[in-house]
Amino acid sequence: MVDTSRTSATVRTVGDLPGPRPLPVLGNLPEFVRGGVANRVLERWCDAYGLTYRFHLARQEAVATADPAVADVVLRRRPGDFRRSAVMSRIIDEMAPHGVFTAEGDRWRRLRKVAAQSLNAAYLRQYFTTITRVTERLERLWRAAADSGDRVDVLDCTMRYTLDVTVGLAMGHDLNALEHTGDGLHRRLPMLFPELARRIQAPFPYWRYVKLPRDRRLDATVREIEDLVRDRFAEARNRIAAGAAPATFLEALVKPLENEPAATDEEVFGNVLTMLLAGEDTTSSTAAWAIHYLAENPAELRRVRAEADEVLGAEWFPSDPATVSRLRYAQAVVDETLRLRPVAPYLVLQPTADVTLDTQDGPLRVPEDKLIFVLTSYGALRDRGRFPEPDVFRPQRWLDGDLPAESLPFAPFGTGPRFCPGRNLALIEAAVIVSVLSRAFDLEPDHSAGPVTERTTFTSFPQNLNVRVRHRADRREP
Ligand code: HEM
Repeated sequence: MVDTSRTSATVRTVGDLPGPRPLPVLGNLPEFVRGGVANRVLERWCDAYGLTYRFHLARQEAVATADPAVADVVLRRRPGDFRRSAVMSRIIDEMAPHGVFTAEGDRWRRLRKVAAQSLNAAYLRQYFTTITRVTERLERLWRAAADSGDRVDVLDCTMRYTLDVTVGLAMGHDLNALEHTGDGLHRRLPMLFPELARRIQAPFPYWRYVKLPRDRRLDATVREIEDLVRDRFAEARNRIAAGAAPATFLEALVKPLENEPAATDEEVFGNVLTMLLAGEDTTSSTAAWAIHYLAENPAELRRVRAEADEVLGAEWFPSDPATVSRLRYAQAVVDETLRLRPVAPYLVLQPTADVTLDTQDGPLRVPEDKLIFVLTSYGALRDRGRFPEPDVFRPQRWLDGDLPAESLPFAPFGTGPRFCPGRNLALIEAAVIVSVLSRAFDLEPDHSAGPVTERTTFTSFPQNLNVRVRHRADRREP
């Protein structure tokens, strides 16, 4: 048993914790899923019952915590004392076994090194040509929308954008989802995440016994990606054998790290798919929400535009990560967006052995395998000391003083040894989208399909996020 408690107060059990009253059989599931914003429900329960409470998903009792000290212990003491939810990992592994997101123990240590290395600063410099190419396409697409006056589905655009960037840097393959309108993998890939989310939330894993048409479509898409990865991996092997320096995630996987065995074929596929899953919806939702806030706040858009005019000068597109780092207001817009709309607002973990956690109300004994929901963004709207007027969209707050971007109870990329290795890439992509589009276009919210709403499945994303786009009045060609 692992003991993380520092006090000698009476040790409580999970059954002693306060929490919402469960219904027979269903527990608190109806309230948890109603409205499709489970993160906001968890946060409201936190307001009502305190930073650490219990609730029931049907008959399964779970703990939720936004207590910074407890969350910190749970997130940091991985992979030894805590692991990702086994049920969730099993469902992801059925699709793509052995990716870094679901791996545990020594396998995770090895895969994490490769993932972290292939997303580090040196690689990001090499990937930048992909980012520039895809950004040019996005801007072209919006120029056409400004000419035609057509409504723009913002999330659809940012998803195609992140898909192109992620497939490009993971495999060196140019999917061109932004410009392809016909059938193809670019159409099928975006279904992976929602299908995965649906399975994670399903009350019963029926697909292990009966395949519905949508399950067969999912299987076919996964096989299609597998074939693509196999082909590209063979090419990557040849390039590395010919002496090329690794320039994509696949090429990084060809070369085993020092004193490490080479990745197996299964691990290669699992990790490429993990990158696609982890890198796409998260970043596209963040960028889409940022555009939403700028459309609603034209004065903020003008500040981003003025900065882009100054930093980029005669160029329309930033040409390297160093230039992006000078787009500080665009970055502040992204930080502020992540605060108001964190796309991965909670993580579901389990202790690997019975554990005693030191909560604000004294020690709490949590048995092995009990689900712990860690609310990593609870402080975003509640920590008024750090974020005065927390409901207001105010990017400037990130430029005044030393506001730590990430520390619990607000850590949108997680924390500890498993924090998001794609953070820098995501922040670069989102800042580039924000800066380039704000510079070129005036934006007007379009609510003709209904109000913009938030929905959370596996991650949070916006619904009905549409805008009308106009060329900026004083547009000058660089
Ligand atoms: C705004 C965008 C993103 C957000 C908010 C985000 C957030 C997160 C969070 C909260 C975690 C879990 C951290 C933990 O367990 O402590 C995570 C893990 C991960 N993310 Fe991201 N992410 C984003 C973009 C990306 C991108 C672009 C990539 C790569 C292309 C990526 C790759 C990963 C991987 C591989 C993991 C698993 C790490 C591990 O288990 O060791 N993410 N991300």
